[in-house]
Amino acid sequence: MSDKLIIFDTTLRDGEQSPGAAMSKDEKVLIAKQLERLRVDVIEAGFAAASQGDFDAIKAVATQVKDSIVCSLSRANDKDISRAAEALAPAARKRIHTFIATSPLHMEKKLRMSADQVWEQARQAVRFARQFTDDVEFSPEDGSRSDMDFLCRVLETVIDEGATTINFADTVGYAVPELYGNMLKSLRERIPNSDKAIWSVHCHNDLGMAVANSLAGVKIGGARQVECTINGLGERAGNTALEEIVMAVRTRKDYFDLEVGVDTTQLVPASKLVTQITGFPVQPNKSVVGANAFAHASGIHQDGVLKARDTYEIMRAEDVGWAANKIVLGKLSGRNAFKQRLHELGVMLDSEAGMDAAFVRFKELADRKAEIFDEDIMALVADEQHAH
Ligand code: KIV
Ligand code: ZN
Repeated sequence: MSDKLIIFDTTLRDGEQSPGAAMSKDEKVLIAKQLERLRVDVIEAGFAAASQGDFDAIKAVATQVKDSIVCSLSRANDKDISRAAEALAPAARKRIHTFIATSPLHMEKKLRMSADQVWEQARQAVRFARQFTDDVEFSPEDGSRSDMDFLCRVLETVIDEGATTINFADTVGYAVPELYGNMLKSLRERIPNSDKAIWSVHCHNDLGMAVANSLAGVKIGGARQVECTINGLGERAGNTALEEIVMAVRTRKDYFDLEVGVDTTQLVPASKLVTQITGFPVQPNKSVVGANAFAHASGIHQDGVLKARDTYEIMRAEDVGWAANKIVLGKLSGRNAFKQRLHELGVMLDSEAGMDAAFVRFKELADRKAEIFDEDIMALVADEQHAH
């Protein structure tokens, strides 16, 4: 049987860290309910210690969500962890996610702590968090720029203290796929108790490689959790896009051989809801959820798709929540696509000569107008019918 890939959604936490994407409590609950319909495994609802508003939002999500695990982020200190535990108290299933930076740069310049102090703080934080739940996740922040020996030391210790998920963070999107996957592989091989935890990837998109890095972490490194956001929303250039991970693993099951529990027909509704709430539009050519992701404009492609959809479609539009694939009629469209649209519109032309004439008129119009809508076709055909 294939392993399961855990989908950990952080739209409400890391996604919200995108400048201008702040969400109210009610908006977070709306998105959380949609994430539950999508059947994600874990919903990171916020950072309880960050503000009273975030605390209240996590509590509201924890109260309303029944199926997914609800999670709060917290720094590696007792105060943050207690706040997270308090906000998560109503949750049917809860997770505390604690983190501390482990890279030399972050430890020296940001935390102003020695490596030994960081090690000790990580140990204490996980031990403390375990008092509230047996589902504790630990992230070495800036993990991909950390020293491997030090990472091994910290991660072995936090697993001993009871961390059940280890999340290898590429905080600044610096990783490249093969190296990142191999770092994770090496950590899992070198840490003696590594099989007591589930390994997770968390990537940022600064170099446009968040999805590729995450998939390399899964394939090469053996990660079984991916942290991601709807539409790839997130700090700076964003996080790993949930819809891309899910559809890559589903579409290429031959390669990944993993199960994903997500209901893919809820992907487009989730994307649209996040867009509507944050006001962050999705580019038309965005994979899976972009308006053009299933649109065919070239005549050759339209003809192919009309004959057999998988000639130019590796996924079905309706499987990810679109109404159907979209044939865009324009100057590149062929006679077959035009005829099919007439058929869909219920228009019957009485002869092949009539069809030829209508198609000529359609091409003339398409030279002047970028996209031909159904109303244009109806007008054009009315003219044609009139002419005979
Ligand atoms: O990018 C990051 O390092 C994070 C951690 C808090 C997991 O978001
Ligand atoms: Zn992050």
